Amino acid sequence: MLHAVIMAGGAGTRFWPASRADRPKQLLDLTGDGTMIQATAARLGDLVDNDRILVVTNERLVEPIQVQFPALPAAAIVGEPCKRDTAPCIGLAAMLVSRDDPEAIMVVMPSDHVISPESAFQSAVRYGAGLVAAAEDRIVTFGIQPKYAAETFGYIERGESISDHAAAPPTYQVARFREKPKGDVAREYFESGRFYWNSGIFIWKAKTILDALRRYEPAMYAHLEAINAAWGTPTQAKTLATEFAAIQGKSIDYAVMEHHKDVVVIEAPFLWDDVGNWQSLERLNESDANGNTVLANHLGIDTQDCIIKADDDHLIVTLGMSGVIVVHTRDATLVADKQREEDIREVVKKLQANG
Ligand code: GDD
Ligand code: MG
Repeated sequence: MLHAVIMAGGAGTRFWPASRADRPKQLLDLTGDGTMIQATAARLGDLVDNDRILVVTNERLVEPIQVQFPALPAAAIVGEPCKRDTAPCIGLAAMLVSRDDPEAIMVVMPSDHVISPESAFQSAVRYGAGLVAAAEDRIVTFGIQPKYAAETFGYIERGESISDHAAAPPTYQVARFREKPKGDVAREYFESGRFYWNSGIFIWKAKTILDALRRYEPAMYAHLEAINAAWGTPTQAKTLATEFAAIQGKSIDYAVMEHHKDVVVIEAPFLWDDVGNWQSLERLNESDANGNTVLANHLGIDTQDCIIKADDDHLIVTLGMSGVIVVHTRDATLVADKQREEDIREVVKKLQANG
């Protein structure tokens, strides 16, 4: 049966000051259509029932996520005691899902994307789950046509075409998976025309990903097995705390995707946008006649090409400004040059260091 796992333990620091440790990007409503994690779950439509959805997140976020998903059973939101990246999150989810359903197929979804239309996403997942069911040990991914030589995405090289019927989206055996190549390599991949970006959405049998983790990350697997053995017993919380903390963090892309043999990529038959920083708001919202993206009570005089956001009705006035980001929240305001957006991570580090 198909199960869905939503990964929601990321930080999203580039959305400061809207994002904070206890309110990261996935809990923000950046488009007015609900929070990113709500949109991720809604995207599943009737593909899976609520009792086959698992959300894996940081333990601090379990409660706020529960508030956003009153229909989800409490046991469906698993809190990690510390951040260890996506491989342990996925391994633990695969073990928990397999307890009741050893034949489970999982669709694993990040919670930091905008995807549309939902119906195209759902039929693509159905198609991908069919490809997984038809093979022994297959991993299915969705590939995005790259738009530039990004260093922040994984790259998937197309191999042999395995599209079997005309209506199916282009589908290929994967020749190579490379997580976040830098500089020249990213450029070479982009220019070759043979690579997709990795969307970060995976479909596999729970047992396939568990076998892979056992093979490639035996130490991580052993810690996860200890957690699974204690699950549902009085020692669950204590075992989770000690064993999870002992894991060396690694993303699934490095841990498994770069090594696994039978990987298939489906060219995503849906629009996909990685919502990584404030400038993503420009792609997700209409701008005004002066190229400003405004999600606030704003008066702009001689203002162009700015992003203005407030989470209340606070009036923001800009005069003679260009290429600036202004984000007002209850207790902090950011005014930044758009070109310096990547440095917001450094701002957050500085603030943390200052307590
Ligand atoms: N539970 C849990 N625990 N979730 C986590 C953790 C963790 O420790 N770390 C990250 N996540 C969640 C994030 O909230 C996000 O939804 C998802 O897992 C992916 O993590 P990111 O940290 O956002 O990964 P990335 O964007 O750098 O890279 C991944 O996604 C790209 C597409 O956006 C990779 O899969 C790349 O290959 C891919 O191109
Ligand atoms: Mg991401």
